[in-house]
Amino acid sequence: MLIIELLNKWIHLLSIAGVLGGTLFSLLVLAPQLKNEDDNPQIKAMWRRSGLTLAGLWIVVIITGFVNVYLVSPTVNGNYQMWLGMKIALALVMFVVTLFVAHPFPAIQKFFKERTPWLVVLLIIGAIIVGISAKLNISRVTGTGLKEAANAQSTVPVTPVVPGSAP
Ligand code: HEM
Repeated sequence: MLIIELLNKWIHLLSIAGVLGGTLFSLLVLAPQLKNEDDNPQIKAMWRRSGLTLAGLWIVVIITGFVNVYLVSPTVNGNYQMWLGMKIALALVMFVVTLFVAHPFPAIQKFFKERTPWLVVLLIIGAIIVGISAKLNISRVTGTGLKEAANAQSTVPVTPVVPGSAP
């Protein structure tokens, strides 16, 4: 099971690196170019291809994310679940905003036509999610995010000290 956990987390991290790197590339390279030459078919094709790549990476992020949830769920406590819930909600917001920035269909075009601020918002949400994920991981390592039973197993048992006994 440990190998599945490792491989899944590895792929989760790689796909997230791809999503955040791709979003940064869109912000710094593609969006300014698209603003200057919005009728250039080559730039448009690059934007489309980058959108498709991000969509593929998002599918991997979501699948590996839920496999992560399945793997950690038996041992984690309510506090961990609460932070995980916030992370999933933010990931959902990030996914929907990415979709709308990549495909600003007519009904929402007014809000998402200006790509640059939305790409900045996406990177900020992404950074917050990475922070929450690190917190989740540390809470399992330190035991604060684990259920009582799992916590007892993961810590060294402490022998109670009887008053008056020799140390
Ligand atoms: C629905 C989508 C997602 C789900 C269900 C999900 C779920 C999880 C879970 C359960 C973990 C294990 C945490 C632990 O070790 O206790 C994890 C790790 C991680 N996730 Fe996600 N995740 C999702 C999307 C994302 C997104 C969008 C990002 C970044 C923008 C992200 C970044 C990370 C990182 C960096 C870790 C590794 C934390 C570490 O080991 O230090 N995840 N994810």
